[in-house]
Amino acid sequence: MPKLLELEDLRVSFHTYAGEAQALRGVNLTLDAGDTLAIVGESGCGKTVTAQSVMRLYPKGAADYKGGSIRYKGEDLLTLSERQMRRIRGREISMVFQDPMTSLNPTVPVGKQIMEGVLKNGSRESKRVTRRDARLRALELLEGVGIADPETRMGQYPHNLSGGMRQRVMIAIAMSCSPDLLIADEPTTALDVTVQAQILELMKSLQSRGNTSIIVITHNMGVVANIARKVAVMYGGVVVERGTVEDIFFRPRHPYAWGLLRSVFRLNKPKDEPLTPIDGTPPELIDPLPGCPFAERCAYTMRVCASGMPPEFAWGEARACRCWLYGPGCPVIPAEWEEYSHA
Ligand SMILES: Nc1ncnc2c1ncn2[C@@H]1O[C@H](COP(=O)(O)OP(=O)(O)O)[C@@H](O)[C@H]1O
Ligand SMILES: [Mg+2]
Repeated sequence: MPKLLELEDLRVSFHTYAGEAQALRGVNLTLDAGDTLAIVGESGCGKTVTAQSVMRLYPKGAADYKGGSIRYKGEDLLTLSERQMRRIRGREISMVFQDPMTSLNPTVPVGKQIMEGVLKNGSRESKRVTRRDARLRALELLEGVGIADPETRMGQYPHNLSGGMRQRVMIAIAMSCSPDLLIADEPTTALDVTVQAQILELMKSLQSRGNTSIIVITHNMGVVANIARKVAVMYGGVVVERGTVEDIFFRPRHPYAWGLLRSVFRLNKPKDEPLTPIDGTPPELIDPLPGCPFAERCAYTMRVCASGMPPEFAWGEARACRCWLYGPGCPVIPAEWEEYSHA
């Protein structure tokens, strides 16, 4: 059976006044049906570009797909026409963004916005959906995302709702087509901690109710531990390590993942500190140096690291790491590897 989603060597660039910005430099990742994958990594590493590319949300000319494939149920989304892609976006894959205020229409009551989603979906499937059906379905969706007194809420505007409730409305809209894949880009970042937990609970319950697979993008390792089964760690436009949650938390292999975890488990860490575990700055996207993007900040850099992008070294089909430390003949066994492999 094909994977639900399979990204292979995905390369995406933007044209900027300064030159070609290589945002994705060969992303590999897979998602099984019914599974939850977290994509983590510090700001600017390419998480959002990955998600938007899967949805093909960049208008023609805005982004360049330079190579690789995005196979969804075995079919490469990069080969589909814009019309075919609209069907995928409508009924197969939905997305929830960090800031619902920018994706909800401030001038339309939220109930009407959900109904529009339901009606649009009905017409796509050439089903006759009356406004009354759509209204009932909208009420049901609002209830499904845990909004009390949905009758009253239907008539309210986004600014009448709290941040957490707006995010619930966004999720209701995303779920209105019963998608097979829900992509949530930092869905809880703008929310306070208790509301974050509620939204995560909601996403988990949606998943166990239907067969929706989830990709959650986050820079919060707490969110990862709470919701994900698989993790892809991104750095500098590539996935540097992927595996199960246990692999990444207890047996991380990439030096960047070591730094990431060390910063998470530091006890006096200020709350909501952004994820910059390792000194230094992210790599340049324009004319990047050849070699591993992390080489400049890595404590274990070897001569080979500057020579070429490391390939993925894999252990089974679900576990892989892009680091020359795992290349053939590498003499070094770093202290961290020992430390974590016995954890
Ligand atoms: N439309 C764009 N034009 C030029 N560069 C972009 C554009 N969108 C994203 N980038 C660049 O691509 C890199 C990855 O961005 P993004 O995926 O948004 O990071 P994040 O991991 O924080 O979500 C960033 O350096 C960003 O500046
Ligand atoms: Mg982002």
